[in-house]
Amino acid sequence: MNKLLISLLVSIGLTGVAHAAGDAAAGQAKTAVCAACHSADGNSVVGNFPKLAGQGEKYLLKQLNDIKSGARMVPEMTGMLTNLSDQDLADIAAYFASKNMQLGQAAEDQIELGQKIWRAGVAEKGVAACTACHGPSGAGIDTAAYPKLGGQHAQYIETSLQKFASGDRANDPSSMMRDIASKMSAEEMKAVSQYVQGLH
Ligand code: HEC
Ligand code: HEC
Repeated sequence: MNKLLISLLVSIGLTGVAHAAGDAAAGQAKTAVCAACHSADGNSVVGNFPKLAGQGEKYLLKQLNDIKSGARMVPEMTGMLTNLSDQDLADIAAYFASKNMQLGQAAEDQIELGQKIWRAGVAEKGVAACTACHGPSGAGIDTAAYPKLGGQHAQYIETSLQKFASGDRANDPSSMMRDIASKMSAEEMKAVSQYVQGLH
């Protein structure tokens, strides 16, 4: 049995509940209202609206549940998920996960510092390397609901790090991201965000 399959089985075992599988084709029909900000295929063109295309399905479903319950506050989406069922959310997650994320480009002057943080963290401050959980190429580890970051808008990444640091976003399991972001300087956040935008 290969490693991916084993970790998949383990993660299903740990979750305990059998979720209905998402249906991407059914999900597409439920995303008309989302297109205004995230674009029809999930490749949003505005820097503060995250790209959803190609994001991990398990991660997307977790965020949809968190936004719906208010565990993660997204004022722009208030009320939009209220009338959607668990099956609707699963279908929507499957739809966006089935698309491909369009890559961005990193600002040249930020690559050196950004790459250093991405690969090695900031040892003297106890900031862990991003690769440990988000993968060397930023693809994430969806069996663990660790999000894909490679290609995501730098502006959204930077804002997310600021929100984790301030605690405005607090839906990360075991404070994983709040612990990391709260130790980072504004300059470090900016550099790693630019680096990630061009990473693949
Ligand atoms: C008016 C604009 C707007 C609309 C419409 C909208 N969203 Fe969002 N969405 C946002 C913003 C802004 C964020 C990021 C908030 C933040 O900074 O944390 C977000 C975040 C998300 C995230 C989390 C992404 C991540 O990487 O963590 C998901 C998933 C999502 N939206 C799905 C949807 C779906 C599904 C719909 C339609 C039912 C929708 N959104 C409609 C503005 C919008
Ligand atoms: C110990 C594992 C771990 C490490 C190390 C880690 N992350 Fe994360 N990160 C996570 C998890 C888990 C989430 C999703 C939290 C949630 O469920 O909302 C996340 C979410 C994020 C998000 C939000 C993504 C989105 O689409 O909203 C950003 C941005 C981010 N991490 C950046 C980084 C950066 C930059 C580093 C390195 C400095 C890093 N992370 C290191 C586990 C980690």
